Amino acid sequence: MSSDFQIELREVTHAYRTDSGPLPVLDNLSLKLPKDTFTAVVGPSGCGKSTLTRLVSGLMKPDEGQVWLASKLVTSPRPTVGMAFQNPVLLEWRTILQNVMLPLEIVKSGMSKAEGLERAHALLDLVGLTGFEDKRPSELSGGMRQRASLCRSLIHKPEVLILDEPFGALDAFTREDLWCTMHDLRAIEPFTCLLITHDLRESVFLADQVVVLSGRPAHAQYVLNVDIPGKRTLDDLYTPKAVAMLADLRHQIQVAQGRTDGAATPAAHAQRGAKAPTPEAQS
Ligand SMILES: Nc1ncnc2c1ncn2[C@@H]1O[C@H](COP(=O)(O)OP(=O)(O)OP(=O)(O)O)[C@@H](O)[C@H]1O
Ligand SMILES: [Mg+2]
Repeated sequence: MSSDFQIELREVTHAYRTDSGPLPVLDNLSLKLPKDTFTAVVGPSGCGKSTLTRLVSGLMKPDEGQVWLASKLVTSPRPTVGMAFQNPVLLEWRTILQNVMLPLEIVKSGMSKAEGLERAHALLDLVGLTGFEDKRPSELSGGMRQRASLCRSLIHKPEVLILDEPFGALDAFTREDLWCTMHDLRAIEPFTCLLITHDLRESVFLADQVVVLSGRPAHAQYVLNVDIPGKRTLDDLYTPKAVAMLADLRHQIQVAQGRTDGAATPAAHAQRGAKAPTPEAQS
């Protein structure tokens, strides 16, 4: 049976083979990401978040279960996935514009060179990098390099965008700036996004749903529906509703870390957007 979701994981279980035996990392993990929605995944360090991104992009196959992407079962690397990581790997011998254009040389996008160039300039303009097209990566700040990396991950109109802690190495102000850039990018051209992050504020500001993974081997322990309608601003993070969501998530992380039991916080009860783990998230 196919999937109605842009990304769907069905009962995915995976273990790494190590010298000291199998290391179970994911256990019966199910996730559903509707098209053009933004899902953030948070969880304890080492619980399997980056492993999840490798499975979705087809770089690895799960031991058990299925990964669906754009109604196709993922069985090999999918070139039409856009990816960005904590440390943007930009090629120093290429200009910023040439770096952004790189995926078009590798992936069939159906775009002509002229269309690709036009799109690259438009994306660079959107993230505030007009005038830096001919610079080398080392001539840019960390935040600017990450902006260029985001443009590169979107240049070929990917089916989904996978971001593994892309803002983790940036200072707080640059990070918040880039969060707003993400909203701008999505407003102009919707895309389905899977974001891995350790930053709960980032998850609430950017995502439609936040999935908390349990400790390793990870399953979906909790799903928060981020019910903040309309265009979001950073001020939205300081409303009682957002503060309650953050308290709720922090509590769930503590549960995932085994530091407390699963009883809901008072803040969770006060916050209408929170959902208990749903059967589809769990099974
Ligand atoms: N190629 C591999 N071979 C063996 N073990 C691995 C491999 N990659 C990751 N692991 C182990 O699998 C577990 C999950 O790793 P993963 O990188 O997915 O965690 P993570 O949730 O992304 O962690 P972090 O939050 O620190 O980035 C870790 O214990 C890690 O040591
Ligand atoms: Mg990781």
